[in-house]
Amino acid sequence: MKILLTGGAGYIGSHTAVALHEAGFEPVVLDDFSNSHPAVMDRLARLTGRPVALERGSVLDTEWLEGVLRRHAPAAVVHFAGVKAVGESVAQPLKYFRINIEGAISLLRAMESVHLGPQPPGPPMLVFSGSATVYGDPARMPITEDFPLSHTNPYAHSKRVIEEMLQAVCLAQPLWRVGVLRYFNPVGAHPSGLIGEDPAGIPNNLMPYVAQVAVGRRPSLTVFGNDYPTPDGTGQRDYIHVQDLAEGHVAALRALLAGTGSFTVNLGTGRPSSVLEVVRAFEQASGRPVPVQIGPRRPGDIARCWADPSLAERLLGWKARLGLEAMCADAWRWQSGNPQGYAD
Ligand SMILES: NC(=O)c1ccc[n+]([C@@H]2O[C@H](COP(=O)([O-])OP(=O)(O)OC[C@H]3O[C@@H](n4cnc5c(N)ncnc54)[C@H](O)[C@@H]3O)[C@@H](O)[C@H]2O)c1
Repeated sequence: MKILLTGGAGYIGSHTAVALHEAGFEPVVLDDFSNSHPAVMDRLARLTGRPVALERGSVLDTEWLEGVLRRHAPAAVVHFAGVKAVGESVAQPLKYFRINIEGAISLLRAMESVHLGPQPPGPPMLVFSGSATVYGDPARMPITEDFPLSHTNPYAHSKRVIEEMLQAVCLAQPLWRVGVLRYFNPVGAHPSGLIGEDPAGIPNNLMPYVAQVAVGRRPSLTVFGNDYPTPDGTGQRDYIHVQDLAEGHVAALRALLAGTGSFTVNLGTGRPSSVLEVVRAFEQASGRPVPVQIGPRRPGDIARCWADPSLAERLLGWKARLGLEAMCADAWRWQSGNPQGYAD
């Protein structure tokens, strides 16, 4: 059974492709490589033991997407493709609205015309990469899915608009089956060290930055604020191992294929870690020092954010298994084996 992964060459998509292969599905990667490296396809072939099908192009091209859907007739689509840097979205909101929102509309239109047209291959089934940023700055922790939504930047806004569009589409056309997965903070890498997160330029996220300091690519880490109302003053997040996250997609697809109606769930561990806890865990996993400097707070950052992941367990039978130690050990194996990422 084929599953089409838009953005499948990216960080989360590539790990999900391997998890899907291991679960007996046949992943088909669709990507324009705007934020990933074609070399990932060789790594996927090594991990799955055979070439993974690739469709190179943009989700913005609806007609081409229709052709891809007809050619492969996937049982479902997982929509990872998009742009994700919060800071960049503040500087270039239209880029985020175009690629994320127009990209989602383009995919939905292509799926509608193939799956709701004459001789449909099956009902339209979609898993969408949502984000915990749609909760804004919630007053309480942990976060459940019924918390009010708000956004503090155009990236989060784009994710929220897409969720609302998906709801409207499901309401209007009940054949659709859609799973929205609100990821918390994905980190780590495949335990083989063959695939991992390979950000272009200066990493926006903590773990890849810490990893680049440990491997000697950057001199030190600047911690954005140590005066938050948290136990050690630094921000707390719900880091989730990308392997657990990949399994969450398998569980979501199985639920949709089994006839579960549309759903929206948090994918997190439910356990917060502070910036300094991550730094310490990484030093331990790597055996390398990670020098830290304290800087001012970063505008738009929130103090605390962690999930109540119990709905995903009840609905999908999925639960995160891996802790901070495994996240750091696997991120380090990837970073130390590929100091310059896929360019090595
Ligand atoms: N990594 C995170 O911290 C995080 C957290 C929450 C949600 N998400 C969401 O998960 C999804 C995947 O994130 P990721 O971390 O793997 O990012 P990523 O940048 O590694 O992967 C996204 C992939 O999409 C591709 N892409 C971008 N625009 C495209 C287009 N127009 N057509 C085809 N392909 C295109 C990129 O080349 C890349 O391979 C994104 O939608 C992101 O917003 C990520």
